[in-house]
Formats: sequence, structure tokens, C-alpha cells
Amino acid sequence: MILVTGGAGFIGSNFIHLWCRERHEPVLNLDALTYAGNPDNLEALPAGNRHRFVRGDIRDAGMLQALLAEHRPRAVVHFAAHTHVDRAIAGPDSFIDTNVLGTQRLLESCRQYWLGTDAASRRGFRFLHVSTDEVYGSLSAHAQPWTEASPLAPHNPYAASKAAADHLVQAYHHTYGLPTLITRCGNNYGPRQFPEKLIPLVIVRRLAGTPIPVYGDGGQQRDWIHVEDHCQALLRVLDQGRPGESYHVAGHAETDNLGLIRQLSALLDARRPDAPVMRIRHVADRPAHDRRYALDTGKIERELGWRPRIGLDAGLAATIDWYLGNPDWLSRVTSGAYREWVASHYGDLSA
Ligand code: NAD
Ligand code: TYD
Repeated sequence: MILVTGGAGFIGSNFIHLWCRERHEPVLNLDALTYAGNPDNLEALPAGNRHRFVRGDIRDAGMLQALLAEHRPRAVVHFAAHTHVDRAIAGPDSFIDTNVLGTQRLLESCRQYWLGTDAASRRGFRFLHVSTDEVYGSLSAHAQPWTEASPLAPHNPYAASKAAADHLVQAYHHTYGLPTLITRCGNNYGPRQFPEKLIPLVIVRRLAGTPIPVYGDGGQQRDWIHVEDHCQALLRVLDQGRPGESYHVAGHAETDNLGLIRQLSALLDARRPDAPVMRIRHVADRPAHDRRYALDTGKIERELGWRPRIGLDAGLAATIDWYLGNPDWLSRVTSGAYREWVASHYGDLSA
């Protein structure tokens, strides 16, 4: 069986849905259910032993050791993290706690467990750490995309915490021989993404008729990938990746934020001609806002034969359809604490 951390969040839950569709091997899902972890994301998964959910925190070493000893996974896929840059800027502590200390506790618990397995299990074991392009910092408009050999140069506390975790994963490989893998992916979108991130935020605010907050001039560039393509890449790396290596994953869909918002809005208007008109508000820029992220994906394409399949327009259209088709999911996640975050972070945008 495999152990997935953070499997009630956006990418982790999409990964578990894909796993259960394509594989018969059981998956154990460990998630603390923070505001971003949502049991609704696990609906419609097969009942019984193929997917089991355990509520727990990756910082809890005793719980981790007991869980590993009981279930004896052959691999760990590590998604659990605090992930929203704006929240990291507002309060970095929980990002260091979970992303750095939590990752180290998980690595150490895995190392202890792995040492106690037989030689064949030790060779076959994999620790796949799911990371991000944000660890590299910011690229200028015409610079070449980063390769896996580019230096890590994070600019905000979220990116710094992920870079620290990446270094720890590499250190556990070099020092102890733990068979680790790292993936670094661009911006994901798709079903079940919490609407604090740009794409679902735009969908929610377009439907409500509230203004869309654009940081600075909106010219920042991101490379967007549908979450299904990312999860397919993770399967490929888990199956065929070389221990100790890292792999880039990206959708080859670079666009600036204003262009993306307009593309998304046009797709929404085509589906909901009665939706309120789009209103954009340029607001103060995010501190340390990275201008551009772009990844060279030659390594995973050459070595593992992975390529993204879902184009940006089709992927955005399918994402809008998912949100329109799941109003209950949306209304549950946009209640209470979500409204408080939006009010405290954006203030009143109606003026
Ligand atoms: P998310 O915020 O939607 O989900 C994170 C999950 O981790 C939640 O279910 C949460 O409950 C859980 N969690 C948080 N702290 C925990 C703890 N201490 N113990 C156990 N569980 C805990 O995040 P996401 O967008 O699905 O991202 C998943 C991973 O992928 C993260 O590591 C992130 O850095 C990485 N990543 C995300 C993107 C993206 O665009 N979203 C891109 C590249 C990499
Ligand atoms: P986000 O979805 O937070 O992802 P990341 O910071 O990991 O790239 O943001 C994507 C881009 O959209 C980023 O350049 C910041 C910008 N953005 C806004 O302009 N307004 C917003 O309200 C949000 C949430 C993001």
C-alpha cells in the first residue's frame, strides 16, 4: 500500500481519485484537515480498504511511527503543507511548522521505518516529495526556464519553507540513502481547489458579481497546469523516477494574470450569459511578488516520457463546469472562516 499525506486537499485528493481509478493497491490518506483539507473532497471514493482516511498531523512523530509500523507502506507521497502565499505573508509560523518541521518529522519517521524493513523492501521504498516552482524565486520576461540544476532562491515565506523541505529531502537521500524523489510543478488548477487561489477565486467572484482583486499591474506570468496532468506526472515519477533525482512538471501554458482572468471570464460568460459583468480592481501588489515562473520539463519528457495532455482553454472550461456543477461543495467552503479571510485580506473592494 502507499501512504499519501495531505490527501484531503486540492492536489492530494485529485491524486487519490486518480489512484483509485487506475490502481488496485490500497491508499492510506493522512491529513490534519486544516481549513484547506476537506472531507467532501473524498466523496465517491471506493469504500473499504482501497482508500482509508486517518486524521492526523505530520508533526506528530509518535503517531507517524505507529501508522507506518501498522500499515507498512511501500511508498509515501507527501503533499501535506500550508500552501497559500498570502497567508504565509500574513503569518509565516504555521508554514515553517508544517512545511519544514513536519516534513523533517515525516522523513525521520520514514527513515526509522525503512531501516527496519528487509533489503528488497528498502531498495523498493520511495519517498516522493511534492514541491513547487516557487522555490527558484523569480524569472525575468525573456530568461530561459529553470532546469532542475538551477539554484533555489525563494522570495516569500511559503517558497522558503518549501525550499527548506526540498533541501531536507535531498539531505536524507545523501546522508542516509533514503530513496527520495522530488517533483517541482507550476501553478495547478482544476476541481476541488480552495477558492483562495486565483482561478477558483475568479470563478466565485464572477458568479457573485464582486470585484476581482488583481495585484499590481496583473502582468505577472505563471505556467498553468491542470491538476490531472500533474497527478499523472506524479504516478510516472513514483513508478520510474530515479531515487535522489528531482523532476519538473509544467503545463506549457504560460500566461499573465490579466490575460488568464479574461480568458476564464470569457469561458464563464459563454456558460452563464446571465452572470454579472466582470469587474476588476487593481489592488496593492503582493510583497515580494515573483514576476514570472517557468520550468524546463525536458528531463521528465526525455527520461520518463511524460507530457501534459490538457490544453489551457479546455482545462479552464472543464474547471468552470466542475464548479458550476458542485454548488454545495462551493457553498460549504465559502462559509465562515473563508469570508473572514477574504474580508481581512482584501478589505472592502466595492468602492
Ligand atoms: P492544499 O492547501 O489544497 O492542501 C494541503 C493539505 O495538507 C490539506 O488537506 C491540509 O489539511 C493538509 N495539511 C496541512 N498541514 C498538515 C499537517 N500538519 N499534517 C497533515 N496534513 C496537513 O494544497 P495543494 O494545492 O493541494 O498542494 C499540495 C502540495 O502540492 C503542497 O505541498 C504544495 O506545496 C504542492 N504544490 C502545489 C501547487 C499548486 O499550484 N497548488 C503547485 C506545486 C506544488
Ligand atoms: P495564487 O493562485 O495565489 O498562486 P501563486 O501565488 O502560488 O502563484 O496566485 C496566482 C497569481 O495570481 C499570482 O501572481 C498572484 C495573483 N493573484 C492576484 O492578482 N490576486 C489575487 O487575489 C490572488 C489570490 C492572486
